[in-house]
Amino acid sequence: MEYTMETLARECAACQKCELCKTRTNCVFGVGNPNADLMFVGEAPGEQEDLSGTPFVGRAGQLLDKFLLAVDIKREDVYIANILKCRPPKNRDPLPEEEAACIGYLREQVRLIRPKIIVCLGRISAMKLINPAYKITKEHGTWVERGNCLMTAVYHPAALLRDPRKKEDMMEDMKAIRKKLEELGCL
Ligand code: URA
Repeated sequence: MEYTMETLARECAACQKCELCKTRTNCVFGVGNPNADLMFVGEAPGEQEDLSGTPFVGRAGQLLDKFLLAVDIKREDVYIANILKCRPPKNRDPLPEEEAACIGYLREQVRLIRPKIIVCLGRISAMKLINPAYKITKEHGTWVERGNCLMTAVYHPAALLRDPRKKEDMMEDMKAIRKKLEELGCL
C-alpha cells in the first residue's frame, strides 16, 4: 500500500495493534515538516503528549525546544516522532511487542520524509534504530551512515532534567548536528 502522511496518520489514529490503544487518549503520530532534512525520534508519548496528541510538548519537550533554539534550528523545520505512538501506562519502558507492533509507522514516516539526518533522542530510540547494544553514555554524538541517511543519538531531554550535568554534552552534540546540516547543504 502506498501511503501519504495523511493516510498513514489516519491509519495510526485508528490503530489497535497493541494493548496501548486501550489506555491512550490520543495517538501521537508525529509533528513537523514532512520534507524535513532533520528528524528526531524519541521513545514514547508522556502524559502531556497523550493529552495533546503532539510529541515533545511536556517538560522534556520544552527543554528540547531550548536546545533547538540555542543552535538556531526551528522546530517547525524538523520532524519529530517517537518509536511508540501511544503512551505506555505510567511512562514505563516500551515492551518489545509494542515496539514490534508500532515500528512500521515510523519506518513509513522515514520513507515518506527521507530525512538526511535522524537523531535518536535517548537510549531506547538508539537501541531500536541504531544498534540493540547501543550505550548512550559512551556513544552519544557518534555518527553512523545508513543508506542515504546519517544517524546519531543524543541524551533524552528527560535524562537532562534528571541530571543537568549532561546538558554540556547535549549542547556539543546539538552543535555538531547543526554543523553536519551545514556540511550537507541543508542550512
Ligand atoms: N518523551 C518522549 O520520548 N517522547 C515524547 O513525545 C515525550 C516525552
